[in-house]
Amino acid sequence: MNIKKLAELLEYEFECHKVFVKVNPCGTIPSGNSEFIVFKIRLKSGTKVKHVNGCMEDIKACLQCSVFELWQIEEQRYLLMSLYPNGDNSLMPILESQAFRETEMQIPVVLGYDIVHKPFLADLAELPHILYGGATGMGKSVALKNLILSAIWKNPSQNVNIVILDIGANDLDIFEGIQHLSHPIVKDEITGVYVAGEIVKEMERRIKLTSNERDELPAIILVIDEIASLLSNIDKKLFQKFSNAMANLLRRGRHAKIHVVIGTQDPTKENLKIASDNITASVAFRCHNHYSSQAIIGQSGAENLQGKGSMLYVSADCPAPVRIQGAYAETEELESAISRVKDSKHDMSNKFVIPEMQSDNPCDFAVTDVILDDTLNKEFAEIIMWTLSQQTVSANKLSNKFHIGNRSKDIICRLCNKNIVSEQNSKQARNVIPNCIDDISDEILEFLSKYGYSGETVSEAISKRIQQK
Ligand SMILES: Nc1ncnc2c1ncn2[C@@H]1O[C@H](COP(=O)(O)OP(=O)(O)O)[C@@H](O)[C@H]1O
Ligand SMILES: [Mg+2]
Repeated sequence: MNIKKLAELLEYEFECHKVFVKVNPCGTIPSGNSEFIVFKIRLKSGTKVKHVNGCMEDIKACLQCSVFELWQIEEQRYLLMSLYPNGDNSLMPILESQAFRETEMQIPVVLGYDIVHKPFLADLAELPHILYGGATGMGKSVALKNLILSAIWKNPSQNVNIVILDIGANDLDIFEGIQHLSHPIVKDEITGVYVAGEIVKEMERRIKLTSNERDELPAIILVIDEIASLLSNIDKKLFQKFSNAMANLLRRGRHAKIHVVIGTQDPTKENLKIASDNITASVAFRCHNHYSSQAIIGQSGAENLQGKGSMLYVSADCPAPVRIQGAYAETEELESAISRVKDSKHDMSNKFVIPEMQSDNPCDFAVTDVILDDTLNKEFAEIIMWTLSQQTVSANKLSNKFHIGNRSKDIICRLCNKNIVSEQNSKQARNVIPNCIDDISDEILEFLSKYGYSGETVSEAISKRIQQK
Protein backbone atom coordinates (compact mmCIF):
# COMPACT_ATOMS: atom_id res chain seq x y z
CA MET A 1 0.00 0.00 0.00
CA ASN A 2 1.42 3.42 -0.83
CA ILE A 3 1.92 5.99 1.89
CA LYS A 4 -0.88 8.28 0.70
CA LYS A 5 -3.38 5.41 0.91
CA LEU A 6 -2.05 4.53 4.33
CA ALA A 7 -2.63 8.12 5.50
CA GLU A 8 -6.23 7.89 4.31
CA LEU A 9 -6.65 4.56 6.04
CA LEU A 10 -5.37 6.09 9.28
CA GLU A 11 -7.82 8.99 9.03
CA TYR A 12 -10.59 6.45 8.50
CA GLU A 13 -9.46 4.35 11.47
CA PHE A 14 -9.41 7.40 13.76
CA GLU A 15 -12.82 8.44 12.44
CA CYS A 16 -14.21 5.01 13.40
CA HIS A 17 -13.16 5.93 16.95
CA LYS A 18 -14.91 9.30 16.57
CA VAL A 19 -11.54 11.06 16.54
CA PHE A 20 -11.19 13.57 13.71
CA VAL A 21 -7.72 14.25 12.37
CA LYS A 22 -5.93 15.11 9.14
CA VAL A 23 -3.05 12.77 8.35
CA ASN A 24 -0.40 13.65 5.73
CA PRO A 25 2.56 11.53 4.62
CA CYS A 26 5.86 13.03 5.67
CA GLY A 27 8.52 10.47 4.70
CA THR A 28 10.26 7.28 5.74
CA ILE A 29 13.27 6.48 7.90
CA PRO A 30 15.16 3.22 7.24
CA SER A 31 15.53 0.96 10.28
CA GLY A 32 17.41 -2.29 9.84
CA ASN A 33 15.42 -4.63 7.64
CA SER A 34 12.40 -2.39 7.84
CA GLU A 35 11.51 1.27 7.92
CA PHE A 36 9.55 3.76 9.92
CA ILE A 37 6.84 5.68 8.07
CA VAL A 38 6.31 9.19 9.37
CA PHE A 39 3.05 11.16 9.05
CA LYS A 40 2.17 14.66 10.10
CA ILE A 41 -1.05 14.69 12.02
CA ARG A 42 -3.32 17.70 12.63
CA LEU A 43 -6.21 17.59 15.06
CA LYS A 44 -9.47 18.94 13.66
CA SER A 45 -11.38 21.38 15.85
CA GLY A 46 -12.92 19.74 18.90
CA THR A 47 -10.39 16.89 18.87
CA LYS A 48 -7.98 16.66 21.79
CA VAL A 49 -4.66 14.80 22.09
CA LYS A 50 -6.15 12.57 24.75
CA HIS A 51 -8.75 11.39 22.22
CA VAL A 52 -5.97 10.42 19.82
CA ASN A 53 -3.99 8.74 22.57
CA GLY A 54 -7.11 6.89 23.65
CA CYS A 55 -7.29 4.89 20.43
CA MET A 56 -3.61 4.48 19.49
CA GLU A 57 -3.38 0.96 20.96
CA ASP A 58 -6.54 -0.12 19.19
CA ILE A 59 -5.43 1.11 15.80
CA LYS A 60 -1.98 -0.33 16.32
CA ALA A 61 -3.49 -3.75 16.92
CA CYS A 62 -5.98 -3.38 14.11
CA LEU A 63 -3.34 -2.46 11.49
CA GLN A 64 -0.84 -4.95 12.97
CA CYS A 65 1.92 -2.36 13.22
CA SER A 66 5.02 -3.20 15.23
CA VAL A 67 5.42 0.48 16.08
CA PHE A 68 2.69 3.10 16.23
CA GLU A 69 3.55 6.18 18.24
CA LEU A 70 2.42 9.80 18.51
CA TRP A 71 5.17 12.38 18.83
CA GLN A 72 5.20 16.11 19.23
CA ILE A 73 8.20 18.07 18.02
CA GLU A 74 7.77 21.76 18.67
CA GLU A 75 4.25 22.66 17.47
CA GLN A 76 3.93 19.76 15.03
CA ARG A 77 2.59 16.31 15.90
CA TYR A 78 3.78 13.20 14.08
CA LEU A 79 2.75 9.58 13.85
CA LEU A 80 5.64 7.12 13.67
CA MET A 81 4.65 3.78 12.26
CA SER A 82 6.29 0.55 11.23
CA LEU A 83 4.28 -2.13 9.50
CA TYR A 84 6.99 -4.76 9.44
CA PRO A 85 8.90 -6.61 12.10
CA ASN A 86 10.96 -4.05 13.90
CA GLY A 87 14.30 -5.14 12.46
CA ASP A 88 16.78 -7.24 14.30
CA ASN A 89 17.68 -6.02 17.77
CA SER A 90 20.14 -8.75 18.82
CA LEU A 91 22.73 -7.89 21.38
CA MET A 92 25.39 -10.44 20.44
CA PRO A 93 26.25 -9.13 16.94
CA ILE A 94 27.10 -5.77 18.54
CA LEU A 95 29.30 -7.38 21.21
CA GLU A 96 31.01 -9.52 18.54
CA SER A 97 31.54 -6.60 16.15
CA GLN A 98 34.93 -5.16 15.33
CA ALA A 99 33.65 -1.75 16.36
CA PHE A 100 32.98 -3.03 19.88
CA ARG A 101 36.31 -4.84 20.06
CA GLU A 102 38.16 -1.72 19.02
CA THR A 103 36.17 0.89 20.87
CA GLU A 104 38.17 3.22 23.07
CA MET A 105 35.37 3.37 25.61
CA GLN A 106 36.54 2.11 28.98
CA ILE A 107 33.24 0.59 30.03
CA PRO A 108 31.24 0.26 26.83
CA VAL A 109 27.55 -0.30 27.39
CA VAL A 110 25.32 -1.41 24.53
CA LEU A 111 21.93 0.26 24.76
CA GLY A 112 20.54 -0.95 21.43
CA TYR A 113 19.91 0.37 17.94
CA ASP A 114 18.93 3.91 16.98
CA ILE A 115 16.22 4.63 14.41
CA VAL A 116 18.60 4.11 11.49
CA HIS A 117 19.58 0.77 13.04
CA LYS A 118 23.05 1.87 14.07
CA PRO A 119 24.30 0.27 17.32
CA PHE A 120 24.09 2.81 20.13
CA LEU A 121 26.72 2.60 22.89
CA ALA A 122 27.56 4.74 25.89
CA ASP A 123 30.70 4.75 28.04
CA LEU A 124 29.72 4.20 31.66
CA ALA A 125 33.13 5.50 32.73
CA GLU A 126 32.07 8.91 31.39
CA LEU A 127 28.42 9.04 32.43
CA PRO A 128 29.27 8.11 35.31
CA HIS A 129 25.92 6.84 36.67
CA ILE A 130 22.71 5.85 34.90
CA LEU A 131 19.04 5.44 35.76
CA TYR A 132 16.68 3.04 33.96
CA GLY A 133 13.02 3.88 34.54
CA GLY A 134 9.66 2.83 33.11
CA ALA A 135 6.61 0.71 33.77
CA THR A 136 6.80 -2.98 34.63
CA GLY A 137 7.50 -5.32 31.74
CA MET A 138 8.91 -2.63 29.46
CA GLY A 139 12.53 -3.73 29.43
CA LYS A 140 14.46 -2.44 32.45
CA SER A 141 15.86 -5.74 33.66
CA VAL A 142 16.74 -6.79 30.11
CA ALA A 143 18.63 -3.52 29.72
CA LEU A 144 20.47 -4.08 33.02
CA LYS A 145 21.52 -7.53 31.83
CA ASN A 146 22.79 -5.95 28.60
CA LEU A 147 24.69 -3.38 30.61
CA ILE A 148 26.40 -5.95 32.82
CA LEU A 149 27.29 -8.23 29.93
CA SER A 150 28.65 -5.34 27.83
CA ALA A 151 30.69 -4.06 30.77
CA ILE A 152 32.38 -7.43 31.38
CA TRP A 153 32.55 -8.59 27.77
CA LYS A 154 36.05 -7.36 27.13
CA ASN A 155 36.89 -6.16 30.63
CA PRO A 156 38.29 -8.91 32.86
CA SER A 157 37.84 -8.60 36.61
CA GLN A 158 41.08 -6.61 36.98
CA ASN A 159 39.28 -3.76 35.12
CA VAL A 160 35.70 -4.02 36.28
CA ASN A 161 34.13 -5.31 39.50
CA ILE A 162 30.41 -5.58 39.96
CA VAL A 163 28.01 -5.58 42.89
CA ILE A 164 24.44 -6.61 42.12
CA LEU A 165 21.37 -5.97 44.27
CA ASP A 166 18.41 -7.90 42.88
CA ILE A 167 15.93 -8.03 45.72
CA GLY A 168 12.57 -9.68 45.25
CA ALA A 169 13.40 -10.83 41.72
CA ASN A 170 15.80 -13.15 39.97
CA ASP A 171 16.40 -11.54 36.60
CA LEU A 172 20.08 -10.94 37.29
CA ASP A 173 20.82 -14.34 38.90
CA ILE A 174 22.29 -15.43 35.61
CA PHE A 175 25.45 -13.51 36.59
CA GLU A 176 25.98 -15.38 39.88
CA GLY A 177 29.49 -16.81 39.97
CA ILE A 178 31.22 -14.48 37.51
CA GLN A 179 34.70 -13.49 38.66
CA HIS A 180 33.79 -9.81 38.54
CA LEU A 181 31.41 -9.98 41.50
CA SER A 182 32.69 -8.34 44.67
CA HIS A 183 29.96 -10.08 46.70
CA PRO A 184 27.44 -12.81 45.87
CA ILE A 185 24.28 -11.29 44.34
CA VAL A 186 22.45 -9.55 47.15
CA LYS A 187 18.89 -10.78 47.72
CA ASP A 188 17.85 -9.06 50.96
CA GLU A 189 17.55 -5.47 52.08
CA ILE A 190 19.83 -5.56 55.10
CA THR A 191 22.73 -7.00 53.14
CA GLY A 192 21.89 -4.36 50.51
CA VAL A 193 22.39 -1.57 53.03
CA TYR A 194 25.55 -3.28 54.26
CA VAL A 195 27.19 -3.57 50.82
CA ALA A 196 26.30 0.02 49.93
CA GLY A 197 28.13 1.08 53.11
CA GLU A 198 31.13 -1.07 52.23
CA ILE A 199 31.34 0.57 48.80
CA VAL A 200 31.27 4.01 50.43
CA LYS A 201 34.20 2.92 52.64
CA GLU A 202 36.09 1.78 49.57
CA MET A 203 35.34 5.12 47.90
CA GLU A 204 36.75 7.01 50.87
CA ARG A 205 39.86 4.81 50.78
CA ARG A 206 40.34 5.32 47.05
CA ILE A 207 39.89 9.07 47.18
CA LYS A 208 42.94 9.29 49.45
CA LEU A 209 45.14 7.38 46.97
CA THR A 210 47.26 9.04 44.30
CA SER A 211 45.78 9.00 40.82
CA ASN A 212 48.46 6.51 39.70
CA GLU A 213 47.48 4.14 42.46
CA ARG A 214 43.83 4.57 41.58
CA ASP A 215 44.48 3.84 37.91
CA GLU A 216 45.60 0.35 38.88
CA LEU A 217 42.28 -0.43 40.54
CA PRO A 218 39.21 -1.87 38.83
CA ALA A 219 36.12 0.28 38.32
CA ILE A 220 33.24 -0.74 40.57
CA ILE A 221 29.72 -0.88 39.19
CA LEU A 222 26.87 -1.07 41.69
CA VAL A 223 23.75 -2.33 39.90
CA ILE A 224 20.44 -2.09 41.76
CA ASP A 225 17.30 -3.44 40.09
CA GLU A 226 13.94 -2.28 41.49
CA ILE A 227 15.50 0.00 44.07
CA ALA A 228 12.04 0.97 45.37
CA SER A 229 11.42 -2.53 46.72
CA LEU A 230 14.59 -2.20 48.80
CA LEU A 231 13.69 1.26 50.06
CA SER A 232 10.15 0.37 51.01
CA ASN A 233 11.16 -2.60 53.15
CA ILE A 234 13.68 -1.06 55.52
CA ASP A 235 13.02 0.96 58.61
CA LYS A 236 13.66 4.68 58.90
CA LYS A 237 17.17 4.41 60.29
CA LEU A 238 18.40 1.96 57.69
CA PHE A 239 16.67 4.01 55.02
CA GLN A 240 18.59 7.05 56.15
CA LYS A 241 21.86 5.12 56.10
CA PHE A 242 21.17 3.71 52.67
CA SER A 243 20.13 7.01 51.14
CA ASN A 244 23.17 8.76 52.63
CA ALA A 245 25.37 6.06 51.15
CA MET A 246 23.71 6.42 47.75
CA ALA A 247 23.89 10.21 47.77
CA ASN A 248 27.55 9.95 48.69
CA LEU A 249 28.34 7.47 45.92
CA LEU A 250 26.44 9.50 43.35
CA ARG A 251 28.18 12.71 44.35
CA ARG A 252 31.74 11.51 44.69
CA GLY A 253 31.90 8.06 43.12
CA ARG A 254 33.32 9.41 39.90
CA HIS A 255 36.54 10.34 41.74
CA ALA A 256 36.98 6.72 42.77
CA LYS A 257 35.94 4.86 39.58
CA ILE A 258 32.64 3.94 41.19
CA HIS A 259 29.46 3.86 39.10
CA VAL A 260 25.86 3.43 40.14
CA VAL A 261 23.20 1.91 37.90
CA ILE A 262 19.61 1.98 39.10
CA GLY A 263 16.46 0.34 37.75
CA THR A 264 13.11 1.63 39.01
CA GLN A 265 9.55 2.01 37.84
CA ASP A 266 9.06 5.62 38.71
CA PRO A 267 11.58 7.87 40.43
CA THR A 268 8.95 10.48 41.35
CA LYS A 269 8.18 8.36 44.38
CA GLU A 270 9.29 10.42 47.37
CA ASN A 271 11.84 7.92 48.54
CA LEU A 272 13.79 7.93 45.28
CA LYS A 273 14.23 11.67 44.88
CA ILE A 274 17.54 11.57 46.70
CA ALA A 275 19.02 9.11 44.33
CA SER A 276 17.73 10.25 40.98
CA ASP A 277 18.48 13.96 41.32
CA ASN A 278 22.19 13.25 41.09
CA ILE A 279 22.09 11.11 37.96
CA THR A 280 22.63 12.85 34.65
CA ALA A 281 22.23 9.92 32.24
CA SER A 282 18.88 8.19 32.07
CA VAL A 283 16.82 5.84 30.00
CA ALA A 284 13.04 5.92 30.00
CA PHE A 285 11.16 2.85 28.84
CA ARG A 286 7.43 3.10 28.18
CA CYS A 287 5.82 4.91 31.11
CA HIS A 288 2.26 5.02 32.40
CA ASN A 289 2.04 8.77 31.92
CA HIS A 290 4.03 11.85 31.04
CA TYR A 291 4.75 12.62 34.70
CA SER A 292 6.86 9.48 35.01
CA SER A 293 8.61 10.25 31.75
CA GLN A 294 9.30 13.76 33.04
CA ALA A 295 10.73 12.34 36.24
CA ILE A 296 13.07 9.97 34.43
CA ILE A 297 14.37 11.98 31.46
CA GLY A 298 13.20 15.49 32.34
CA GLN A 299 10.59 15.56 29.57
CA SER A 300 7.50 13.80 28.36
CA GLY A 301 7.58 11.34 25.47
CA ALA A 302 8.23 7.94 27.02
CA GLU A 303 4.48 7.47 27.52
CA ASN A 304 4.27 7.15 23.72
CA LEU A 305 6.83 4.38 23.36
CA GLN A 306 5.65 0.96 22.30
CA GLY A 307 7.28 -1.13 25.07
CA LYS A 308 9.44 -4.24 24.43
CA GLY A 309 12.67 -2.45 25.13
CA SER A 310 12.04 0.75 23.15
CA MET A 311 13.57 3.64 25.05
CA LEU A 312 14.46 7.30 25.15
CA TYR A 313 17.99 8.07 26.28
CA VAL A 314 19.34 11.36 27.58
CA SER A 315 22.73 12.25 29.04
CA ALA A 316 24.84 15.33 29.59
CA ASP A 317 26.26 14.76 26.07
CA CYS A 318 22.92 14.21 24.41
CA PRO A 319 20.24 16.24 26.18
CA ALA A 320 17.68 15.74 23.37
CA PRO A 321 16.14 12.28 23.84
CA VAL A 322 17.45 9.65 21.42
CA ARG A 323 14.98 6.95 20.44
CA ILE A 324 16.62 3.56 20.72
CA GLN A 325 15.34 0.03 20.31
CA GLY A 326 16.88 -1.81 23.24
CA ALA A 327 19.09 -4.77 22.35
CA TYR A 328 18.02 -8.27 23.33
CA ALA A 329 19.63 -11.66 23.86
CA GLU A 330 17.77 -14.91 24.53
CA THR A 331 18.58 -16.59 27.85
CA GLU A 332 20.63 -19.33 26.16
CA GLU A 333 22.71 -16.75 24.30
CA LEU A 334 23.31 -14.89 27.54
CA GLU A 335 24.29 -18.07 29.33
CA SER A 336 26.77 -19.09 26.71
CA ALA A 337 28.20 -15.54 26.57
CA ILE A 338 28.60 -15.51 30.34
CA SER A 339 30.34 -18.88 30.37
CA ARG A 340 32.78 -17.53 27.78
CA VAL A 341 33.52 -14.62 30.11
CA LYS A 342 34.02 -17.04 33.01
CA ASP A 343 36.49 -19.08 30.97
CA SER A 344 38.72 -16.11 30.18
CA LYS A 345 41.75 -15.19 32.29
CA HIS A 346 41.28 -13.03 35.37
CA ASP A 347 43.88 -11.50 37.64
CA MET A 348 42.29 -11.18 41.06
CA SER A 349 45.11 -9.34 42.82
CA ASN A 350 43.42 -5.92 42.86
CA LYS A 351 39.89 -7.17 43.06
CA PHE A 352 37.53 -5.32 45.39
CA VAL A 353 36.02 -7.93 47.69
CA ILE A 354 33.26 -7.25 50.21
CA PRO A 355 33.50 -9.60 53.21
CA GLU A 356 30.34 -11.51 54.13
CA MET A 357 28.22 -9.64 56.64
CA GLN A 358 28.87 -11.05 60.13
CA SER A 359 25.52 -11.71 61.74
CA ASP A 360 26.09 -14.89 63.76
CA ASN A 361 25.84 -13.15 67.06
CA PRO A 362 22.80 -10.94 67.44
CA CYS A 363 24.88 -8.44 69.39
CA ASP A 364 27.28 -8.49 66.46
CA PHE A 365 24.50 -7.76 64.09
CA ALA A 366 25.83 -4.25 64.40
CA VAL A 367 29.46 -5.05 63.64
CA THR A 368 29.64 -2.94 60.54
CA ASP A 369 29.42 0.83 60.70
CA VAL A 370 26.41 0.89 58.47
CA ILE A 371 24.34 -1.24 60.69
CA LEU A 372 25.71 -0.02 63.96
CA ASP A 373 22.25 0.69 65.08
CA ASP A 374 21.00 0.28 68.59
CA THR A 375 17.36 0.52 67.63
CA LEU A 376 17.74 -2.68 65.64
CA ASN A 377 19.16 -4.55 68.63
CA LYS A 378 16.40 -3.18 70.79
CA GLU A 379 13.87 -4.34 68.25
CA PHE A 380 15.46 -7.81 68.14
CA ALA A 381 15.28 -8.05 71.93
CA GLU A 382 11.62 -7.09 71.80
CA ILE A 383 10.99 -9.70 69.10
CA ILE A 384 12.70 -12.43 71.16
CA MET A 385 10.54 -11.58 74.16
CA TRP A 386 7.35 -11.66 72.15
CA THR A 387 8.40 -14.91 70.43
CA LEU A 388 8.96 -16.62 73.80
CA SER A 389 5.30 -16.05 74.66
CA GLN A 390 4.01 -17.53 71.38
CA GLN A 391 3.37 -21.19 70.47
CA THR A 392 4.50 -20.72 66.87
CA VAL A 393 5.86 -17.90 64.74
CA SER A 394 6.20 -17.31 61.02
CA ALA A 395 7.78 -14.58 58.97
CA ASN A 396 4.31 -13.27 58.13
CA LYS A 397 3.19 -13.16 61.72
CA LEU A 398 6.37 -11.30 62.72
CA SER A 399 6.05 -8.89 59.88
CA ASN A 400 2.44 -8.07 60.77
CA LYS A 401 3.16 -7.69 64.45
CA PHE A 402 6.28 -5.51 64.13
CA HIS A 403 5.69 -3.86 60.71
CA ILE A 404 9.11 -4.92 59.48
CA GLY A 405 8.26 -6.04 55.94
CA ASN A 406 10.60 -8.56 54.36
CA ARG A 407 13.17 -8.22 57.12
CA SER A 408 11.08 -10.70 59.06
CA LYS A 409 12.65 -13.49 56.97
CA ASP A 410 16.15 -12.61 58.17
CA ILE A 411 14.99 -12.16 61.71
CA ILE A 412 13.36 -15.54 61.80
CA CYS A 413 16.62 -17.12 60.59
CA ARG A 414 18.44 -15.39 63.41
CA LEU A 415 15.86 -16.68 65.92
CA CYS A 416 16.47 -20.16 64.52
CA ASN A 417 20.28 -19.80 64.76
CA LYS A 418 19.84 -18.91 68.39
CA ASN A 419 17.64 -21.97 69.05
CA ILE A 420 14.60 -19.88 69.87
CA VAL A 421 12.52 -21.26 67.04
CA SER A 422 12.72 -24.57 65.19
CA GLU A 423 14.10 -25.11 61.68
CA GLN A 424 11.60 -24.51 58.91
CA ASN A 425 9.27 -27.45 58.48
CA SER A 426 7.87 -27.18 54.92
CA LYS A 427 5.51 -24.20 54.86
CA GLN A 428 4.35 -24.54 58.45
CA ALA A 429 4.95 -21.92 61.12
CA ARG A 430 7.96 -22.64 63.35
CA ASN A 431 7.66 -23.92 66.91
CA VAL A 432 9.08 -21.89 69.76
CA ILE A 433 11.73 -24.01 71.51
CA PRO A 434 12.65 -22.85 75.06
CA ASN A 435 10.45 -24.47 77.76
CA CYS A 436 12.34 -22.88 80.63
CA ILE A 437 14.98 -20.23 81.12
CA ASP A 438 17.77 -22.86 81.07
CA ASP A 439 16.94 -23.58 77.45
CA ILE A 440 18.15 -20.10 76.53
CA SER A 441 21.86 -19.44 76.00
CA ASP A 442 23.75 -17.13 78.35
CA GLU A 443 24.63 -15.01 75.39
CA ILE A 444 20.96 -14.31 74.65
CA LEU A 445 20.10 -13.77 78.31
CA GLU A 446 22.89 -11.24 78.56
CA PHE A 447 21.71 -9.57 75.39
CA LEU A 448 18.14 -9.38 76.71
CA SER A 449 19.22 -7.99 80.03
CA LYS A 450 21.16 -5.26 78.20
CA TYR A 451 17.83 -4.17 76.75
CA GLY A 452 15.99 -4.22 80.06
CA TYR A 453 14.57 -7.77 80.18
CA SER A 454 15.53 -9.51 83.44
CA GLY A 455 15.69 -13.30 83.90
CA GLU A 456 12.38 -13.03 85.70
CA THR A 457 10.60 -11.35 82.77
CA VAL A 458 12.05 -13.97 80.44
CA SER A 459 10.72 -16.79 82.67
CA GLU A 460 7.31 -15.10 82.79
CA ALA A 461 7.14 -14.89 78.99
CA ILE A 462 7.93 -18.60 78.71
CA SER A 463 5.44 -19.68 81.38
CA LYS A 464 2.74 -17.61 79.68
CA ARG A 465 3.20 -19.86 76.68
CA ILE A 466 3.47 -23.13 78.61
CA GLN A 467 0.23 -22.35 80.47
CA GLN A 468 -1.63 -21.73 77.21
CA LYS A 469 -0.66 -25.16 75.85
N1 LIG B 1 14.92 -5.05 24.12
C1 LIG B 1 13.94 -5.95 24.08
N2 LIG B 1 13.65 -6.61 22.94
C2 LIG B 1 12.66 -7.52 22.90
N3 LIG B 1 11.92 -7.86 23.94
C3 LIG B 1 12.15 -7.25 25.10
C4 LIG B 1 13.17 -6.27 25.25
N4 LIG B 1 13.17 -5.83 26.52
C5 LIG B 1 12.20 -6.51 27.16
N5 LIG B 1 11.59 -7.35 26.32
C6 LIG B 1 10.49 -8.29 26.66
O1 LIG B 1 9.77 -7.78 27.76
C7 LIG B 1 9.85 -8.68 28.87
C8 LIG B 1 9.95 -7.90 30.17
O2 LIG B 1 11.15 -7.19 30.22
P1 LIG B 1 11.86 -6.82 31.61
O3 LIG B 1 13.19 -6.24 31.26
O4 LIG B 1 11.85 -7.96 32.53
O5 LIG B 1 10.87 -5.69 32.14
P2 LIG B 1 10.97 -4.80 33.46
O6 LIG B 1 12.25 -5.13 34.15
O7 LIG B 1 10.90 -3.39 32.97
O8 LIG B 1 9.76 -5.16 34.27
C9 LIG B 1 11.09 -9.53 28.58
O9 LIG B 1 10.99 -10.78 29.20
C10 LIG B 1 11.07 -9.62 27.08
O10 LIG B 1 10.17 -10.64 26.66
MG1 LIG C 1 12.50 -5.93 36.07
